[in-house]
Amino acid sequence: MARTYIVTGAGSGIGAATARLLREAGATVVGVDLKNSDISADLSTPAGRREGAAAALEAAGGRVDAAIASAGVSLPTALTVSVNYYGVTEFLAELRPALAQSTAPRAAVVGSMSSLQPNSPQLVEALLTSTEATAVEVADQLAADPQTGNLIYASTKRAISRWVRAQSVTPEWAGAGIPLNVVAPGIVVTPMTEQLLASPESTAFVDAVVPMPLNYHQPPESIANLLIWLTSPENTHCAGQTIYCDGGSDVVLRGEDAWSWADGRVGEYFQQLTAGQPAG
Ligand code: NAI
Repeated sequence: MARTYIVTGAGSGIGAATARLLREAGATVVGVDLKNSDISADLSTPAGRREGAAAALEAAGGRVDAAIASAGVSLPTALTVSVNYYGVTEFLAELRPALAQSTAPRAAVVGSMSSLQPNSPQLVEALLTSTEATAVEVADQLAADPQTGNLIYASTKRAISRWVRAQSVTPEWAGAGIPLNVVAPGIVVTPMTEQLLASPESTAFVDAVVPMPLNYHQPPESIANLLIWLTSPENTHCAGQTIYCDGGSDVVLRGEDAWSWADGRVGEYFQQLTAGQPAG
């Protein structure tokens, strides 16, 4: 039987490319978006998430094998909090029980290399530990100043990567056999980046903050293909990862040594072993 996918943001850009490639490969796809898709839903509101998930499940015949969350906005306002974070976490939570019924359930989220960029620790903390109303309040304060407003997007992407990492190993996800991961793009040529890439000056700014030595700006398909693999039955053991598919910007920004965080912890490691605790 063909696999069934629910894809948010399927009306444009990365979500649209993902839905198209999945359909071309024979899958059944139900797209969810504000516009241009199968199910119209506003993922910025709790009711929109709940009703959108219910309508998508109904359209999918009550069963779903994989969920892909691509809907997002990049505005320096609190709307970005509601769509990019809660529009993912709450929507996936609505679908999770149905996903758990699949024989090969999978979920993947579109994050961003912005998860590595400067952000507001206060907003990240509010997203991870507080209510939507509190996070929106923090974002409203940041939005009052254009400089801090620009931290909102990166904060939502840092928080969603951390949420996925935390959730991925819980009984609800790993315990139910559902790999949950993030793909983090660099600069993808979609309507979202059209304005940013409209002039040589703005393009030069973008290229300075998102250096992409491998093949430069990317087509939506470069992300879609990875989302499709992560949500395929072949992915049996990737859990909680944020996979930077970004032309190399992660490496340029963070350097080649992403491991030395453990170097000062040798004593702690042996202590754990002596105490019979699992090391890690
Ligand atoms: P896009 O603007 O082409 O598509 C985003 C889609 O999300 C649109 O169809 C839009 O209607 C939908 N959407 C927005 N708000 C919604 C809401 N409240 N309810 C339901 N649907 C809503 O943008 P693109 O580039 O395809 O972005 C997809 C994801 O990729 C986003 O999460 C974005 O943050 C992320 N991303 C994009 C990058 C880029 O360079 N384009 C880079 C890194 C991450």
